[in-house]
Amino acid sequence: QKVSLTGIKPTGDAHLGNYIGAIRPALEMASRFESLYFIADYHALTSVRDRAQMTSWTRSVAATWITLGLDPKQTIFYRQSDVPEVFELQWVLSCVTGKGLMNRAHAYKAARDRNAEAGLADLDAGINMGLFSYPVLMAVDILIMSADVVPVGKDQVQHVEYAADIAGSFNHLFGDVFSLKIPEAVTPPGESGRVLPGLDGRKMSKSYQNTIPLFAPEARLRKLVRSIKSDSTPVEAPKDPDSSAAFHLYENFAAPEDVAEMRRRLEAGGTGWGELKNALFEELNTQLAPLRKRYDDLMAPDSEIDAILAEGAQRARERARPVLAGVRRAVGVDGL
Ligand code: TYM
Repeated sequence: QKVSLTGIKPTGDAHLGNYIGAIRPALEMASRFESLYFIADYHALTSVRDRAQMTSWTRSVAATWITLGLDPKQTIFYRQSDVPEVFELQWVLSCVTGKGLMNRAHAYKAARDRNAEAGLADLDAGINMGLFSYPVLMAVDILIMSADVVPVGKDQVQHVEYAADIAGSFNHLFGDVFSLKIPEAVTPPGESGRVLPGLDGRKMSKSYQNTIPLFAPEARLRKLVRSIKSDSTPVEAPKDPDSSAAFHLYENFAAPEDVAEMRRRLEAGGTGWGELKNALFEELNTQLAPLRKRYDDLMAPDSEIDAILAEGAQRARERARPVLAGVRRAVGVDGL
């Protein structure tokens, strides 16, 4: 059976973009693949600097997956930091990865671009080594579990391609230790698989603070949906649904017939953006309201999350150990 793997960073509460880009497709795949899903807490450490935030966001990401239907019997569900084998392999793979490859990584380049825009002389100001070598750690996540497919949003595709490059470099130097299967990014298909926009129309992202959290209370959800940016086309005028962040969100959550009908009405004129937002709110709330209580229960300190993650850590380590042992043997650190 093929292996599906994906991770989410606990840098905030999980949001609609995480759901559409990764969680929904990953949960659909869980019945057809052997699945390993994890909370990338050491990835989050590149930016989270507060113990209370780290613990509560980690719990929130875990509670989100379970609430949305992850079955811990079927899926190995774990916290990255519980699998120390990952960090040993990270060093090894750092030693076969060209610095140039990291220089070209999107997240690092974006951070430098922000510094350039801010007029800073040192483009690396505020960038830590964790952010710089982030793609190596992500390659390890994927390779140590021998993943075949990695359901992610389009923003993560480059990282998954890097994992294949890095495995290739290692194999070239030390023999075919990583199975020759090339991990493949699986992104949501078609037009609706574009990166999901946030409140301001840019990519929905915790770092832009433009997200709609999955389990926001009803009043807050309504307020957030109302605040989605829209242009000032008058109600009567025909509108281009594809220019609208609210429509793109609606497309990803409503039934196809309802989406087609909404498109027709917007294009015809006479339907305002406000009406679209009301429909979007109703759709989201109908789907999410029944789940809020389960999420809140799981967020309580004594919920079953701890036991689920403890069990997941054991199973994840069992898989990681032989892969790491093979690597240690190949490079010559397993004895004299
Ligand atoms: P992260 O935590 O930023 O996002 C988690 C997942 O959500 C997807 N996503 C989106 N998809 C569509 N539209 C959006 N606006 C949107 N925002 C986020 C992301 O593509 C991702 O799939 N580096 C990863 C975490 C990671 C990982 C891994 C993933 C660490 N190791 C190994 C896969 C395999 C990240 O920062 O995701």
